[in-house]
Amino acid sequence: MTSADTYNLNNGLKIPALGLGTFTVTDEKLLETAIDTALEVGYRHIDTAYIYRNEHIIGKTLKKWFDSGKLKRDQVFVTTKLSSDGVHPERLENQLKESLKNLQLEYVDLYLIHFPIGTKPRAPGDTATDIIAEPTDHISIWKIMEKQVEDGRTKSIGVSNFNEKQIENILKNAKIKPACNQVEVHVYLPQNSLVKFCQDNGIVVIAYSPLGNPGINEFRAKLGRPPQSLPDMLNDTLIKQIAEKHKKSAAQVMLKFLLQRKIAVIPKSITPSRIKENFDLFNFSLDDSDLKLLDSLKVGEKARVCNFSNLHGFKNHPEWPFPSEE
Ligand SMILES: NC(=O)c1ccc[n+]([C@@H]2O[C@H](COP(=O)([O-])OP(=O)(O)OC[C@H]3O[C@@H](n4cnc5c(N)ncnc54)[C@H](OP(=O)(O)O)[C@@H]3O)[C@@H](O)[C@H]2O)c1
Repeated sequence: MTSADTYNLNNGLKIPALGLGTFTVTDEKLLETAIDTALEVGYRHIDTAYIYRNEHIIGKTLKKWFDSGKLKRDQVFVTTKLSSDGVHPERLENQLKESLKNLQLEYVDLYLIHFPIGTKPRAPGDTATDIIAEPTDHISIWKIMEKQVEDGRTKSIGVSNFNEKQIENILKNAKIKPACNQVEVHVYLPQNSLVKFCQDNGIVVIAYSPLGNPGINEFRAKLGRPPQSLPDMLNDTLIKQIAEKHKKSAAQVMLKFLLQRKIAVIPKSITPSRIKENFDLFNFSLDDSDLKLLDSLKVGEKARVCNFSNLHGFKNHPEWPFPSEE
């Protein structure tokens, strides 16, 4: 595996196996420095979402790189996502147009439905409790996603947080198959069945929270939310032992575990040394005994970090995608 490693998408295009996540980063200077560092190190894949409220910073930073001639548009893979209040036939296209304007791009490389449940439009300042779930028809939404490819606003389309049944429904009715499913996957939540289903159907899995998002409680505190319990994989004795054996960090072992399963990873960091560390994955391999040990660390649903159940009406919605705790 080299730093330029890519996976083939089912539409003939390619996705870099490693990207930079940007969830929770809205500070302009921190995000610009993170992206500059990432692009200098060799990252060519950036993940954002309309709901992260940072597309405009990414757009400004990318423009700087493109204007300087250091990179061309087609050398960077940019993903953004349709937020739940855009999961509506009359709102989807406008939201993508707004994302493109924020990103100062003519097209994105990948546009994902962020979550399988649509909501009523949000007003500025709305909090989680103001979000109202609506009935959601994936087939009519998917047709409008397909139109975005036909109109040139995105190269590829996909889903995020969708389960097997929901993907199967889209596959049965789609003109353009979903290229990717972005879901939470890490050592403690390996999602073996969902990953196999996606890969058997030619859908690339992108792992979010691949490190179990150890920083999420800092973010929750800023929003006035109580801390949640987290899977502390960075301090797992077995993961640390495997890391020592390869002279790598626990984070690098966790990311490599996913890459060796042909899963794309998008670790988020605003720390330049970590951005470099998370990219330095291409000069070692986990062996069969390491993989077996890492497989044995599975916890399952209890280790899920991003649980959207605090959103009003989500947990009881017919399109709630997650299994109950194992
Ligand atoms: N589709 C979805 O619903 C969804 C949900 C969640 C996330 N995502 C996407 O996936 C990306 C990644 O997931 P995530 O942000 O939830 O979590 P993550 O990448 O698993 O973890 C990010 C946290 O790990 C820290 N970190 C990064 N590299 C590290 C290292 N080498 N050693 C120790 N700590 C390290 C970061 O700290 P510093 O930044 O302080 O360095 C940050 O606190 C997101 O940013 C977002 O783009 C998508």
